[in-house]
Amino acid sequence: MEEKKTILTGIRPTGNLHLGHLFGAVGNWVKSQENYNEFIEIADVQALTDNFNNPDKVRKNVRELTLDLLACGIDPNKATLFIQSRIPEIAELTVYYSNLVTIARLERNPTVKTEISQKKEIFGQKGEGITYGFLGYPVSQAADITAIGGTLVPVGEDQLPLIEQAREIVRKFNSIYGETLKEPEHMLSNIPRLKGLDGNEKMGKSLGNAIFLVDDDETVTKKVMDAMTDKTKIHKDDPANPDVCMVYYYHKLVSKDNLDTICKECKEGKRGCIQCKKELAKNMIEFLKPIKERRKYYEDNPEKVDMILKEGSQKARYRAMETMSNVKKAIKIDYFED
Ligand code: TRP
Repeated sequence: MEEKKTILTGIRPTGNLHLGHLFGAVGNWVKSQENYNEFIEIADVQALTDNFNNPDKVRKNVRELTLDLLACGIDPNKATLFIQSRIPEIAELTVYYSNLVTIARLERNPTVKTEISQKKEIFGQKGEGITYGFLGYPVSQAADITAIGGTLVPVGEDQLPLIEQAREIVRKFNSIYGETLKEPEHMLSNIPRLKGLDGNEKMGKSLGNAIFLVDDDETVTKKVMDAMTDKTKIHKDDPANPDVCMVYYYHKLVSKDNLDTICKECKEGKRGCIQCKKELAKNMIEFLKPIKERRKYYEDNPEKVDMILKEGSQKARYRAMETMSNVKKAIKIDYFED
């Protein structure tokens, strides 16, 4: 039998997951855990590049994120969940990879470039606030991927330049030190981006237009009732265009049974927005229910969560140690048997 390919993906523990994460990324990870050898990294070291002055936030969110991922259906018997900082080999690899990347190349990385300009808006044009650690995070991400031997990396479009950078590092490493590392490839998701409740192209925490998986029923209802609809519809029986309505957009995700009816009634002016939103809220709450139930189970069994992270990190570490041993040989720093 052919060996399963290894997937490595990562996520920063900086807040709770929302529907954008679920539909854009995590839902795919839940599917791919069936057919791949899947590793999911909780990237606490990477989160600290932006949040080094707020360790409490990162610490708390490692737990929250783990609960959210398990709630979404990541099955610890199928996928391996691990914490980045528990794998010191990743930090070690980062040091050696740092020699293979120029500062100019890092500054040219489109993802980094966008983040730098956002930071400059906050910190002023002089670039204060851009740390060495931040500029180098693509190098550390290349180490994440290659340490585990990930050949497939499921990411959103904004992460593509980081995967390209990792590929370059691997090629350079292999060309200098001999064929040692595997070049990773990206896997793009079908819904790279979920629109926000306000119609914004992206659902995001900082945009204030997200439904979080931990939102209680009342909050979900309130958010749905405030969602953007076809602005040209004034009266309950005006015909409207569902294609510009966020309520219909989310109906498409969670109300699969009567979609045609919803669409038709909306177009014919036979469906008031309030009724339509109430139905969506009900379906959304129903959709979130099994997710909440799984979360509750793990919240009530914290020692299970500890075990999942501990064992997952142990398993990931064995792979990283193997990679590190090959890397040391290649760089000729394998002075003694470990
Ligand atoms: N940079 C990714 C993000 O911000 C998180 C991440 C860390 C990652 N390490 C990774 C993604 C390795 C893919 C592979 O979402």
